[in-house]
Amino acid sequence: MIASNILSFAKCILSEVLEPGCIAVDATTGNGYDTVFLSRQVGINGHVFGFDIQEDAISQTEDRLDEECVPVNWTLFNTGHENMLRFIPEEFHGKVNVVMFNLGFLPGSDKSVITKSETTLEAIKASLSILNRGGMLSIAIYAGHPGGDEEDAAVRGFCTSLDYHSFRVIQSEMVNKPGFPIRMIFVSKL
Ligand SMILES: C[S@@+](CC[C@H](N)C(=O)[O-])C[C@H]1O[C@@H](n2cnc3c(N)ncnc32)[C@H](O)[C@@H]1O
Repeated sequence: MIASNILSFAKCILSEVLEPGCIAVDATTGNGYDTVFLSRQVGINGHVFGFDIQEDAISQTEDRLDEECVPVNWTLFNTGHENMLRFIPEEFHGKVNVVMFNLGFLPGSDKSVITKSETTLEAIKASLSILNRGGMLSIAIYAGHPGGDEEDAAVRGFCTSLDYHSFRVIQSEMVNKPGFPIRMIFVSKL
């Protein structure tokens, strides 16, 4: 059931945009689950660029991609997503179909290593600039952990301010979840 997990719900939405041959970015590869999804969606003629600041996350993602036998259509960068304009070759700028952000900390790892408002906003702006028309940005935001509320407010504030004639922004939220909320924001570039 897609609505049992907000990330599965997000992947259903992104599946509508992603086709074989597409270009995708996983801005926070973490344990590699989202990278595997993107790699399968875009297939051997597409490509996925992945970013994470933790070396462990990058090797976890590499291992998962190997284990899951996905197409070899990916390039991982052990650097912050705020550097994506420098790392993604220029030939792909304006041709990216999907950028996925899954914010917060890496489950099962050091919870003090978190995404931060300033670099997240820089990376979101960079993502919007490299998306093609019809491309989609998805952002999973977790409030509740230290720094999470601030990032949640900053990301939602920025996305809410995007020009309606250039972007459409949709927010979804699991409203009956106990504890802190998990929100998904989808930004489509017109
Ligand atoms: C919630 S986890 C991502 C989960 C992942 N997408 C998955 O499928 O397992 C968030 C990740 O963001 C990474 N991160 C933190 N700051 C970052 C930055 N500036 N650029 C890229 N990744 C960052 C963390 O190291 C962590 O692995």
